[in-house]
Amino acid sequence: MPALVHTPPLPGPHPARFKDQVAIVTGGASGIGEATCRRLVAEGANVVIADINGERANALAAELGPCASAQTFDAADVASIQTVVLGTVARFGRLDVLHNNAALSAPAVHTRDRNAVDIEFEVWDQVMAVNLRGYMAGCKYALPTMIRQGRGAIVNTASTGGFSGDITRLAYSVSKAAVIGLTRQIATHHGAQGVRCNAVAPGLVLTPGTHGAAADVIAVMQRHLLVPEVGLPEDIAALVCFLASAEARYINGQTYIADGGMLAHNPAMADLVDLAVSPR
Ligand SMILES: NC(=O)c1ccc[n+]([C@@H]2O[C@H](COP(=O)([O-])OP(=O)(O)OC[C@H]3O[C@@H](n4cnc5c(N)ncnc54)[C@H](O)[C@@H]3O)[C@@H](O)[C@H]2O)c1
Repeated sequence: MPALVHTPPLPGPHPARFKDQVAIVTGGASGIGEATCRRLVAEGANVVIADINGERANALAAELGPCASAQTFDAADVASIQTVVLGTVARFGRLDVLHNNAALSAPAVHTRDRNAVDIEFEVWDQVMAVNLRGYMAGCKYALPTMIRQGRGAIVNTASTGGFSGDITRLAYSVSKAAVIGLTRQIATHHGAQGVRCNAVAPGLVLTPGTHGAAADVIAVMQRHLLVPEVGLPEDIAALVCFLASAEARYINGQTYIADGGMLAHNPAMADLVDLAVSPR
């Protein structure tokens, strides 16, 4: 198994960076979304943990205390997204941060998301409904409030899969590439109205969503990292919260890769190291 001991530990939250702000995190009950909810609450926000897994969302909200609440929804269902966003605005009177992060994670769909020859349109449509239309719908319903406020930050979770080809997961990769485009479009249309829209593109991050991956697959991926340890959800949450915060006020329409350097180097690097052509 890859090293998981990160030294020194990630610096802690910035107290009060999101004081009195209201945030929605979709897919907030697990992995990257959960870490983002924890950090936003620690930094002073009221956070709506929106997830299809209501039980886990409720448990996390109970653990995080009165500044967190849970909302069950399905990102494939536009009406339920509208309910989450408009319900949050009705309750708090504002919306400062939307983290579009949920992605279809059902193994039954993943294993059928292969290549253009084999994929069934039903699988393509399911992936696009959650990973792309769901993000667009979140923006659509959040934007009027953010525009009215003259301020708001949207952070979309893309993936390195949106930048590079892979041996499988056609629909997933295309949906994440489209999220990068969506991010630029929203920033272009609404930046001058005070809304920033940026994206994070994680590489391999150890979450419940990836713990199913075989240890040997993770070990292969780790050979291509330019850092000693595999990423944790907290590494991505730190970037999400920076982009959502006022510290990033001059950043709009961008996608930030957080992948331990996976996409930064010659793809043959690990093989060359094996050949002892180049020491590491
Ligand atoms: N973990 C990684 O290595 C990695 C790499 C690149 C990108 N990402 C992206 O990061 C995001 C979070 O991934 P993770 O690894 O934390 O996953 P995870 O499986 O740990 O968490 C995903 C959460 O989304 C929820 N969800 C799934 N379908 C939903 C739906 N239809 N409606 C509402 N909620 C739904 C799940 O219940 C779960 O709580 C995803 O967008 C994923 O594509 C993850």
